[in-house]
Amino acid sequence: MPTLPPRIPLAQLPTPLERLDRLTVDWGGPNLWVKRDDLTGFELSGNKVRKLEFHLAAAIADGADTVITCGAAQSNHCRATALAAARVGLRSVLVIRTADGNAVPLAGNHLLHHLAGTEIVTITPDAYRERDAVMQAVAVDQARLGHRAWVIPEGASDALGMWGFVLAMRELAEQFDAAGFTTPPTIWHAASSGGTTAGMAWAVDRLKLGTPIIASSVGDAAGDLVNRVDVIWDEALEAYGGRRPQAPLEVIDRYVGSGYGITSQDELRVQLEVTQSTGLLLDPTYSGKAFYGLHREIASGRWSSSDDVVFWHTGGGFAVFAHDFGGAFGRSVGDDA
Ligand SMILES: Cc1ncc(COP(=O)(O)O)c(C=O)c1O
Repeated sequence: MPTLPPRIPLAQLPTPLERLDRLTVDWGGPNLWVKRDDLTGFELSGNKVRKLEFHLAAAIADGADTVITCGAAQSNHCRATALAAARVGLRSVLVIRTADGNAVPLAGNHLLHHLAGTEIVTITPDAYRERDAVMQAVAVDQARLGHRAWVIPEGASDALGMWGFVLAMRELAEQFDAAGFTTPPTIWHAASSGGTTAGMAWAVDRLKLGTPIIASSVGDAAGDLVNRVDVIWDEALEAYGGRRPQAPLEVIDRYVGSGYGITSQDELRVQLEVTQSTGLLLDPTYSGKAFYGLHREIASGRWSSSDDVVFWHTGGGFAVFAHDFGGAFGRSVGDDA
């Protein structure tokens, strides 16, 4: 691996690798494991903090006093950015996509955006298509106010943020060694902006791990996700050299269901089953949808009972507090009031 760019340690690492014995029995094998990136820290929980360790170091090295990033109102990435920026003494501005470009109620991650003292700019989904240009315009506005801003792309998914997941994969490989696997387990994870997938697969290639990686899209077509990973790798190859990674990577979109952030009753039923069999908290948009896909794949007989599969829990717990679960319990929210 090349010499890595500077990073500020923000995450609680290593995150545990745990067996899911009860779920393994309930679902009839394979052996299920979980990589607990929901435990990277309470307020910085989830996969994004690993990428932010590199981005915030770069922002500070660049002399920035402000970071700008973007996402949905329930974005875990925006929440982690706002809180991590506060921790290292940077201001933050979030460009938030809402249905009509207007402010939305404070709940879940969006409440935490406000508690972190971030400045919020809300835009429509149409304007969000040009999010990079919008963030550059916000940076110009910030410069007029005397601030120097560092722009972090959506999900911190670029060649810099990718290193967070290259290191994460190395961390997991050490845990595989300690657990004594003779065949590398398959890794299943929720994928969206591509940085997590790009980093994992890069490490599998460069460290010759042979670990099969399955990226389960939570919204976009598999082809779009593959393109995103390719763009991140192109950037990384240009910046750091080397050859294109060749890893056993499978990008799938068959469990996107009705779309990003839309959860069916069937998906919700599986998420509740997982929580009630493991004590793990899943969010409907990312880890819940991905776990549903894993369940379906197990039910289709993809693995034998002697195989090992690791669900990489990428976090997202706060979004649970902004989701209407009423229907899942056979009554409307508010009946207890
Ligand atoms: C909880 C959670 N899991 C998975 C992902 C997907 O990671 P990536 O955007 O790197 O593909 C995200 C991204 O927002 C997320 O918040």
